[in-house]
Amino acid sequence: MNLPNLKEAKKRTNAKVLYKETPTIKNHSFQNKKYFLRTYGCQMNEHDSEQIEAILVNLGMSPCDELTDADVIVLNTCAIRENAHDKVFGYLGRIKHLKKERPEVLVAIGGCMSQEENVVNELIKRHPYVNIVFGTHNIHELANYLQNALENKQEVEVFSEEGCVYEHVSYKRASNITAWVNIIYGCDKFCTYCIVPYTRGKERSRKLEEVVQEVLSLKEQGYQEVTLLGQNVNAYGHDLEEGYEFSDLLEAVAKTNIPRIRFVTSHPWNFTDKMIEVIAQYENIMPYIHLPLQSGSDRILKLMGRRYTKEEYLALYKKMKERIPNVAITTDIIVGFPGETEEDFLDTLEVVDACQFDGAYTFIFSPREGTPAAKMVDSTPLEEKEERLHRLNEKINSYSKMHNERLVGKVVPVLLLGPSEKDKDFLYGYTDTMKLVNVKAPTSDIGKIIDVLITDAKSFSLDGQKKESITM
Ligand code: SAH
Ligand code: SF4
Ligand code: F3S
Repeated sequence: MNLPNLKEAKKRTNAKVLYKETPTIKNHSFQNKKYFLRTYGCQMNEHDSEQIEAILVNLGMSPCDELTDADVIVLNTCAIRENAHDKVFGYLGRIKHLKKERPEVLVAIGGCMSQEENVVNELIKRHPYVNIVFGTHNIHELANYLQNALENKQEVEVFSEEGCVYEHVSYKRASNITAWVNIIYGCDKFCTYCIVPYTRGKERSRKLEEVVQEVLSLKEQGYQEVTLLGQNVNAYGHDLEEGYEFSDLLEAVAKTNIPRIRFVTSHPWNFTDKMIEVIAQYENIMPYIHLPLQSGSDRILKLMGRRYTKEEYLALYKKMKERIPNVAITTDIIVGFPGETEEDFLDTLEVVDACQFDGAYTFIFSPREGTPAAKMVDSTPLEEKEERLHRLNEKINSYSKMHNERLVGKVVPVLLLGPSEKDKDFLYGYTDTMKLVNVKAPTSDIGKIIDVLITDAKSFSLDGQKKESITM
């Protein structure tokens, strides 16, 4: 048994990052079995699940949609806020019930919650029917853990290490049109509220050539869009001897001529002018930046350890808007950080008014055990935080709607991804600026970037019509 340890996870030495080839999976006896995989959390977890699926499929298994049909259940968990935890523990109730009827079903818990000591201790004590607990650093070992679990051994193996970079990983990608590509793992920013630097290890970049190679191979397979992934993409390259930075990588990826390039997430700190120039210069780098603000109050930003002031954020925002034609900018905001007063909150609203974001994810602060903010005095009642969230969301939604309404009557490029959930005559897709559009177009257009006339704006989506089919 190898248990996680948050203190160990916090260590950042100068130990060199090891670049390893992904181990090949040995032959195991899971032929024709069914797996049920559920993913919580961010894009990085979604992408990790594509690796998990490739492992399960390589073992001879196929996916199922019903928990009750599964021989192997894998939950890829998220630890970012308390409600992410609650969802997983809630779901475990159903699994416990199922295990009573079918004890041979194997249950594996992975992802960021597995990297937390308190969670793993609770799993061991209260959920002994869980067969495997694995972390974010050892996904590639899952096949071996499953084999051991078949032999009735409980496997709890979570490493609180800085992490390696594994190359030539196999993925069962969810789409054959858009793909995620990891460029940097981990996070060294240690924002005081955030658990990610503990669950994901040290910032470590993939080699530029490996990223470019992966993008080229995706392009050859017909992919139209890649999203470069990192908790903080502008930290890319700082740990590499070659001295590259994110702008170099972006430029190299742009030169592959893959039609669309996106990236998440950008930290407002250390977003260089060169990065802005490269984004502006290349047509295949989409004019869309997710730039988390978190708070508009300098006092709270300092307590959060965010490394920028309100003025610095606003100056960066302005520069992006001036230099990148037609850029859309979205953000993340936390309300109710310990000690946030009404005045601090009004500062946040002021920045929202100044920026008029295209959209935002907004959250109430959730204390994460082991992080500095969890120990800070927090005397604001929950009702007040909820009320602030409500006021903030009203503003955010009105600006989103405003941006959507401005597009009505305009023709925009949309990458069509599949049939719309609402209406089978419609396809859905995203504009270059990452706005969701439902378009009346034939299914043969799926996977294509087409010109769409926007006909109607809703709060969270647009309706449109394929340009060729518009009768004048
Ligand atoms: N690496 C990204 C964010 C990853 S987490 C970045 O730095 O921008 C996504 C968002 O969750 C964060 O931007 C933050 O707004 C929110 N978040 C993180 N920890 C939180 C916490 N303890 N409580 C509430 N929201 C949190
Ligand atoms: Fe968390 Fe901050 Fe790192 Fe983002 S930059 S993952 S918010 S510690
Ligand atoms: Fe959640 Fe881990 Fe992502 S905590 S948000 S899954 S990095």
